[in-house]
Amino acid sequence: MTAPGAAATLPIQSSDDVVRVRQLVRSLAIEAKLSLVEQTKVITAASELARNTLVYGGSGIATVEPVERNGRRGVRASFADSGPGIPDVAQALTDGYTSGNGLGLGLGGARRLVDEFDLTTAVGAGTTVTVTKWAR
Ligand SMILES: Nc1ncnc2c1ncn2[C@@H]1O[C@H](COP(=O)(O)OP(=O)(O)O)[C@@H](O)[C@H]1O
Ligand SMILES: [Mg+2]
Repeated sequence: MTAPGAAATLPIQSSDDVVRVRQLVRSLAIEAKLSLVEQTKVITAASELARNTLVYGGSGIATVEPVERNGRRGVRASFADSGPGIPDVAQALTDGYTSGNGLGLGLGGARRLVDEFDLTTAVGAGTTVTVTKWAR
């Protein structure tokens, strides 16, 4: 059991791991009293980011935690990999752009679905994307 308020880290090395991240984000979103719509948004964003970590990063680590600010609760999820990095972030965020076989909607879609979106990347070093969704 994870103590309340503690961050949980999960490896992302397989599709099963992506499912586990989804489940953890869901339970924290419910705990934080996000509405069903808000839950779905943050779960979808986390799922897309976890998949990118796996597909483009090769593997990585997800950190999922409950957050609270001024009495408002939420859930934060961070996805870190030591993959190739993103050479052109604006391009990567553009709807329809994919360097692989995707739809190119994951990164930009994830950004729209959450309240806070932070992307740090360095070519040859890796990528970290952190998203936060707050209950209304
Ligand atoms: N963790 C990552 N590491 C390296 N490149 C990434 C990562 N996440 C996203 N990208 C790049 O951003 C592009 C857009 O991502 P996304 O919008 O999720 O589309 P898709 O997954 O369909 O390709 C990817 O095709 C890839 O080039
Ligand atoms: Mg994607």
